[in-house]
Amino acid sequence: MDILVLNGPNLGHLGQRQPDVYGVLGMEAVPDLVRSVLGAQADVVQLTFFQSNSEGALIDRLELAWQNTIHGIVFNAGAYTHTSLAVADCLAWIKIPCVEVHISNVHARTTPLRQTSLMARHCLGSIAGFGLLGYALAVQALVQHLGQP
Ligand code: DQA
Repeated sequence: MDILVLNGPNLGHLGQRQPDVYGVLGMEAVPDLVRSVLGAQADVVQLTFFQSNSEGALIDRLELAWQNTIHGIVFNAGAYTHTSLAVADCLAWIKIPCVEVHISNVHARTTPLRQTSLMARHCLGSIAGFGLLGYALAVQALVQHLGQP
């Protein structure tokens, strides 16, 4: 099962960016978290990681995932979650099962806009507030949804 783990703007320096909000771990911790959540099932999952600060590059990567018939997407679109109709439009037509992830609990944060997601209606569901564990939980949700192994 091929899963794309896609990160949007300002998620390229996790571990260094506001560790009080986003934690001290970088994305390199995610494969071990996936293994700890999935156990032996992790063997059926191929993860591909991509991060960009650019809206267009994220859409290009989503379209490539569609061309390559990627099975599922774990997507933390960062601030584009709340603002990008273009990213939401892309998810609407490629129709690859997608789980929205946020490291922080966006619903508990002070900026009201963070409680809005333009992409949520095009996703299977969303996970927020569990730090990088959220990526592993999202992979688990996709494995269950896709029904493998
Ligand atoms: C974030 C939450 C967003 O509101 C913010 O713009 C981010 C990170 C998160 O993972 O908690 O860049 O998506």
